[in-house]
Amino acid sequence: MKNIVILGSTGTIGQNTLEVIRKGRDRFNVIGLACRENKDLLARQIREFRPEYVYFEKVDTVFERRFPRVKILCGDKGLEKIASLKKADIIICAIPGISTLKAVCSAIRSKKVIGLATKEILVVAGHIINRLSRKYGACILPVDSEHNAVFQALEGIKKEDVKKIYLTASGGPFGGRPAGKNATLKDVLKHPVWKMGKKITVDSATMMNKAFEIIEAHYLFGLPAEKIGVLIHPEAFIHGMVELNDGTIKGVFSSPDMKFPINFVLDYPRRKETPWRPIDFSSMKKLTFSSADRNSAWFSLAAEAIEKNGSLPVVLNAANEEAVNLFLQGKIKFNGIIDIVQKAVRSHRIKKHVSLEDIFEIDRRAKNKVRELVRTKL
Ligand SMILES: NC(=O)c1ccc[n+]([C@@H]2O[C@H](COP(=O)([O-])OP(=O)(O)OC[C@H]3O[C@@H](n4cnc5c(N)ncnc54)[C@H](OP(=O)(O)O)[C@@H]3O)[C@@H](O)[C@H]2O)c1
Repeated sequence: MKNIVILGSTGTIGQNTLEVIRKGRDRFNVIGLACRENKDLLARQIREFRPEYVYFEKVDTVFERRFPRVKILCGDKGLEKIASLKKADIIICAIPGISTLKAVCSAIRSKKVIGLATKEILVVAGHIINRLSRKYGACILPVDSEHNAVFQALEGIKKEDVKKIYLTASGGPFGGRPAGKNATLKDVLKHPVWKMGKKITVDSATMMNKAFEIIEAHYLFGLPAEKIGVLIHPEAFIHGMVELNDGTIKGVFSSPDMKFPINFVLDYPRRKETPWRPIDFSSMKKLTFSSADRNSAWFSLAAEAIEKNGSLPVVLNAANEEAVNLFLQGKIKFNGIIDIVQKAVRSHRIKKHVSLEDIFEIDRRAKNKVRELVRTKL
């Protein structure tokens, strides 16, 4: 029986993880659930999965009294504690942004298996996460479907035999192309394939999600940007591929359903029977691919962040997060997101070496900068 903690249990990935656990009660046990404030759903999850520990952001004594048998944790330290519980085998990290950065480090120091959905952690602190994982022998398994597919395709392959990897992109609501000036929030949130949280859905529409995935792949697989290709593949049946020196390409197919990569992570390294249906090739009408434009703004931002590194990826992530927030609040237009991110990146003086504490400070300043840029333009 594997003991599992889910950071972000009320979110899209969190709920998909609980669905996988629901269908695998003989092998998975929930011992910790964490969310920010969605107490109604959290309460239902507690009643169904009976975790020993629960985390939410702010102290709530009324809620605590409703569940006297559950140990309730709050605040930053609480998140670190739930991510490193002695009994925990796997920590699923699915909270957007960098608020779980210290908690992930704490899970690494406790030698947990970490199912990492939160790509932002690797974007801003890939070098720290990799160094710590090597030091403590922790295992990071990617939940992001593209990286999960590449991880699977790389199993049994020597790094020097890899020529290139490919991440696929459904292209979001605008097919991977820049949207018209008048794209509304409703248009942007209408993702044709994946049902995801709002932040990542907006990132899919701007293609910044793919920019972050390139940086994520760089840290997970130790490859430079030139060896990471992106293919627009609207059907979203192939999630990631590895091209080998001999010309062979290995890829991973599954329906566009996050339960596949989540199940892979929870059962790793075994392959147990599941109720998720494999693709029926006979009913597949077509599979289409086109190369993403390497000269597009999002691709250049990712390549620059990898090349210059230091504090730049932190600014890229923070500026984008703030710009997306402002878009979601109706304060900027959709097309303004990439413009603002580019401006914030261009005006940043790179700090070469960044510590964990620096990251939070740089993140805070970059978000202020974005707000200032928007204010002055208005
Ligand atoms: N959705 C996908 O298919 C997908 C695929 C690949 C990667 N990812 C990545 O996985 C992460 C989660 O995405 P998502 O789509 O599942 O997000 P989501 O649906 O917006 O869910 C976010 C979850 O995080 C919790 N949360 C947010 N801020 C928190 C905080 N400060 N402290 C504690 N909990 C907090 C939320 O709690 P409340 O409900 O209480 O607010 C919720 O449980 C993101 O980094 C995303 O890029 C997602």
